[in-house]
Amino acid sequence: MKVHRHSYDAVVVGAGGAGLRAAIETAGKCRVAVLTKLYPTRSHTGAAQGGMCAALANVEEDSWEWHAFDTVKGGDYLVDQPAAEIMCREAIDAVIELEHFGMPFNRTPEGRIDQRRFGGHTRNHGEGPVRRACYAADRTGHMILQTLYQQCLARDVNFFNEFQVLDIAFSEGRVSGLVAYELATGDLHVFHTKAALFATGGYGRMFKVSSNAVTLTGDGPGVLYRRGIPMQDMEFFQFHPTGIYKLGILLSEAARGEGGILRNADGERFMERYAPTVKDLAPRDMVSRAILTEVREGRGIGENKDYVHLDLTHLPPEQIDEKLPDITDFVRTYMGLEPKTQMIPIQPTAHYAMGGIPTNISAEVVVDGDNTVLPGLYAAGECACVSVHGANRLGTNSLLDIVVFGRRGGAAMAQYVNSVSHADLPAHVEDETRGLVERLRTSAGGENVADIRARLQEEMMDKASVFRTDESLRSVLDTVRSLRDRYQRAGIQDKGEVFNYDLTEAIELGFLIDLAESLVVSALARTESRGAHFRDDHPTRDDVNWMRHSMAFRNDDGGVRLDYKPVVGGKYEPMERKY
Ligand code: FUM
Repeated sequence: MKVHRHSYDAVVVGAGGAGLRAAIETAGKCRVAVLTKLYPTRSHTGAAQGGMCAALANVEEDSWEWHAFDTVKGGDYLVDQPAAEIMCREAIDAVIELEHFGMPFNRTPEGRIDQRRFGGHTRNHGEGPVRRACYAADRTGHMILQTLYQQCLARDVNFFNEFQVLDIAFSEGRVSGLVAYELATGDLHVFHTKAALFATGGYGRMFKVSSNAVTLTGDGPGVLYRRGIPMQDMEFFQFHPTGIYKLGILLSEAARGEGGILRNADGERFMERYAPTVKDLAPRDMVSRAILTEVREGRGIGENKDYVHLDLTHLPPEQIDEKLPDITDFVRTYMGLEPKTQMIPIQPTAHYAMGGIPTNISAEVVVDGDNTVLPGLYAAGECACVSVHGANRLGTNSLLDIVVFGRRGGAAMAQYVNSVSHADLPAHVEDETRGLVERLRTSAGGENVADIRARLQEEMMDKASVFRTDESLRSVLDTVRSLRDRYQRAGIQDKGEVFNYDLTEAIELGFLIDLAESLVVSALARTESRGAHFRDDHPTRDDVNWMRHSMAFRNDDGGVRLDYKPVVGGKYEPMERKY
């Protein structure tokens, strides 16, 4: 394999919203490169639909403190409150900045940024739904991605497109380099750098039904986990209530924000029973559980009684066309249904990782329960865990998270790299990555990557998704570990060098297996139910023993060691989560 060498002050890994916002912040302040496995505008931020919230109060009274309260309560009190306060306060400037960058938000008749309702966002501490989500029809993430990319181009940010980062090097206790695989050539690239900011997105592809692009395989967290960085709060994985039945494609919560209703086999608006005040606009963990409870109790729809309906048929057709054009087109394309007149089969879909690479409010990565910073290492967006989402993220808080903490991370990194020199790279820094690629290329073991991945996704969906028990988690843990053994014997058919997706998918599967194991071990240990982590065998929240974040470390033998650190509290005391 050919090896190319580069030197930069800072490297951003990933070109979704968080990576691009970080790059904008560093531009002109230091020599920065952005490495991205996808062409930037294909990043998964582009799939975010319904909105980005900020208490602008453009259409009704609102305040960032109400937003912070909702975020903490929505996260079932596992949220670090100072971080949530920063995010909600800075949200307002973040939206205005995007507007100044050219973001085409929907407008009120008076020309202000329009706002709509979203799950869990309330006025005055839960009195009723509030219009807080700023949006661009149902393609808000797409528009943010394009806007930020244009700003990067205007600043001459240096992109290395279709470069997949597969390893990181530390020397003298800090970041010294990265190793990337170039998809177009099969060559390796070593980047000597003082700092790296990871913004590589989530890992929803460990589940069978997911709203995530097939590229969301946890590469960034996977690379760091293998190099000793712990993964925080991995047991909290969000299922979005409204994925297209069996396909998992996202149908935005904005559909319910605009007045859409969930109905069971009896045509009943069942959310009235589960969340009498906000009904269909309860937080996602509650709505997903409600849907699957209806299914469990025999009120599901269809041959297998395993889905419910999203009903938009009562909405004015012009409102659907103006506010929900993309998702209604998805329904026509993938289901052959007309959402203006027909109800839509939906089921919960694996959507968002609340857990990930632990960071502080400057997006610096911390490596232990004392929050010790690893100099030169940063993370932002879904791959990171600040923790502003706690045990369950509110809809629209992820687009907010990426711009707020992308900017903070970029600023902190630019300042850091201007205060240090490069640490020496370890000798033969690329050897491990070369070994990984060669092993997969030459393996005669006969195990098939697609088979292993399918089994992983099915088991995770059946046994570690919305409902979990000790038994289901032990069973899936055994399976994940046996799949890792099989993975050691996996080989690929395509031996070529140019755009060898057979190879990159095999590499990605390794990250998924590692992260699935850390998720399951963390979930097994947490003997309570909180947010998206629901244990049938421990169905209540236990604030006495579990107001703490889990930290999963990968052992050298491939197992997992757990440690914990306390949740950082604030003015909101944990209370019963009624909506
Ligand atoms: O439902 C949605 O539009 C998704 C938004 C989000 O995940 O924040």
